[in-house]
Amino acid sequence: MGRLVQCPVIFITVDHEVAHDLLRSDDFRVISVGWNLPKPLRWVAQHTDAGLLHPLQPPSLLSVEPPEHTRYRKLVSSVFTTRAVAALRDRVQDTANRLLDELGNDPGTVDVVERYCSQLPVAVIADILGVPEGDRREILEFGELAAPSLDFGLSWKQYRKVNRGLEGFNVWLAEHLRRLRRNPGDDLMSQLIEAADEGGRLNERELQATAGLVLAAGFETTVNLLGNGIKMLLEAPQHLETLGARPELWPNAVEEILRLESPVQLTGRIVRRDVDVAGTPVRRGDLAVIYLAGANRDPLVFEDPHRFDIERPNANKHLSFSGGRHFCLGAALARAEGEVGLRTFFERYPDARLAGTCARRDTRVLRGWSSLPVALGAARSAVNS
Ligand code: HEM
Repeated sequence: MGRLVQCPVIFITVDHEVAHDLLRSDDFRVISVGWNLPKPLRWVAQHTDAGLLHPLQPPSLLSVEPPEHTRYRKLVSSVFTTRAVAALRDRVQDTANRLLDELGNDPGTVDVVERYCSQLPVAVIADILGVPEGDRREILEFGELAAPSLDFGLSWKQYRKVNRGLEGFNVWLAEHLRRLRRNPGDDLMSQLIEAADEGGRLNERELQATAGLVLAAGFETTVNLLGNGIKMLLEAPQHLETLGARPELWPNAVEEILRLESPVQLTGRIVRRDVDVAGTPVRRGDLAVIYLAGANRDPLVFEDPHRFDIERPNANKHLSFSGGRHFCLGAALARAEGEVGLRTFFERYPDARLAGTCARRDTRVLRGWSSLPVALGAARSAVNS
């Protein structure tokens, strides 16, 4: 197989080195649905555009390039600093403890995706972004409806569902921003609004798109990291035993989970000028699909790549957070949530086991479980670490 393979309409790569280089190359630009897609896909996108803020349409960070991208990203980074994220770790721990306390009163089998994996990231990101407690359920529903917005080839029914989610989210977000402007809190969203307003650095639509992406990107993906991690570890009791004896291995275990079950499976780039990629010529306007999850199993980089090995020395060489200009802005937070969220779950419920049929989400770009029935067993008391 070639390192960049031509298929009808698209090129695709699962080669780690090619993927790594394309993500950093200036000859490849992010997809901007309705604008720079190859013709047949552009036609579909233009005829199904509902005029809503969309993660793959400008002014979303994910679909713009410099100079706009630099401007938006600088603004978010000025608020989302390493220090601010490090300070969130305690909040992640408190939230995990609270959610697991609530599970403690529920002996028997529970769906851990519904009761834990979805609740933790939404509570954390909602705290950071000043979302009132009462709005969280609604946001989760919008997120679930809109999650397939990253996929191509939706059925009419799915497309309508996605638009309902995006529409609900757009209306809610505009009102939330108005509320915070009138009555700012000590949350990062209030700081983002203040930074955006200062000297008119972002207009209202740009601010909504940026804030909305941080909020949405912050939970749909992390839910899947937690669900994937719980399932993989329940199926590998030997790893749980090792982690119990050597908890310092948790960060590497999370990297290995991200590598093997990448919550974002792929991303795309549009060729900006005719170039040669690993011997394959591509032309301006072609679409290259970078299969992050495939590159994560490249045998030239990862020895015995399909094996789940929490001690793998180079597990963090995965591309699950992408690379280059668009490298995930929330990677540090996602890593903290994965580590604290999984460790706390297994410390509290060391006897947990799968107890029923697990169901996958029907999304294609995002990969995760929609339901994981787990018999929790006896709970241990909370350990704050
Ligand atoms: C396990 C969890 C997560 C995964 C796997 C993930 C993955 C990704 C990937 C693959 C991209 C880049 C896509 C591309 O290159 O086309 C990205 C971008 C982004 N992510 Fe994450 N993400 C996660 C969690 C988060 C969290 C918690 C936040 C926010 C708090 C977040 C915010 C963002 C933002 C704002 C971008 C756009 C960056 C840009 O385009 O400059 N992500 N993420």
